[in-house]
Amino acid sequence: MGKIGVFDSGLGGLTVLRHLLEQHQNTDFIYLGDNARVPYGNKSDSTIIKYSEQAVEFLISKGVQTIVIACNTSSAIALEYLKNKFQDIQFIGMIKPAVKGAISKTKNKNIGVIGTQATINSKSYLKEIATYGKYNVLTKATPLFVPFVEAGMIEHKAIELIIEEYLAEFKGKIDTLILACTHYPFLHKGISKYMGSDISIIDTGFYASKELIESNKSNDRTIEYYVTDSPNDFISVAEKHLNIKINKITKVDIEE
Ligand code: DGL
Repeated sequence: MGKIGVFDSGLGGLTVLRHLLEQHQNTDFIYLGDNARVPYGNKSDSTIIKYSEQAVEFLISKGVQTIVIACNTSSAIALEYLKNKFQDIQFIGMIKPAVKGAISKTKNKNIGVIGTQATINSKSYLKEIATYGKYNVLTKATPLFVPFVEAGMIEHKAIELIIEEYLAEFKGKIDTLILACTHYPFLHKGISKYMGSDISIIDTGFYASKELIESNKSNDRTIEYYVTDSPNDFISVAEKHLNIKINKITKVDIEE
């Protein structure tokens, strides 16, 4: 078994990669960020499936057999399609592990879920949580977080206002909040400050990384980065906010 593919619509998936790198220190990774076409979260299901399929085909062409679908929107909309279409590939999505994490944390069974419009509309989180029994779940699409993170505006007065605007209706009503979008862990500090430190915040990447079974053991591991558009924001956000050093990044065209 070789390297592990990681796919996201942009740079947000680096929050998932960060956990993969920490939890799997001897594993090689290939990351693809489709930043030419981000955001996926406001697109139709058929477009999200088409883009996700092209991304997966690219990663398969690089020789991976396991793919982490870091993008919550793709996990919600395209995962079942991808599993059916590429039956030899092992896929790890975000939803099951994140829900498992939330169930283990909540004490009062009141869970909040924030994500893109497509993720929230899909009701994937509601359905997955329902498999554990009766929980009170509040969901909300919070799409404006994504462009702020993509632009590197992570600790900014404007984002504090948006956090308040979006999350006011959750305050005091939940004890656990699932960040059902790759980009939201960048805003962890601001969200936690607003919601209160007693709220459990579920970072999907942390729980999804636990699902990966260690595959190869290379002492000198490699991480390859690919993007579909300019890598500038990608590199600066990775280095400044995640402490991920990117030595080489390649722009590719994954459209047929
Ligand atoms: N990666 C997406 C997700 O996790 C967020 C950005 C987008 O809308 O493409 O849902």
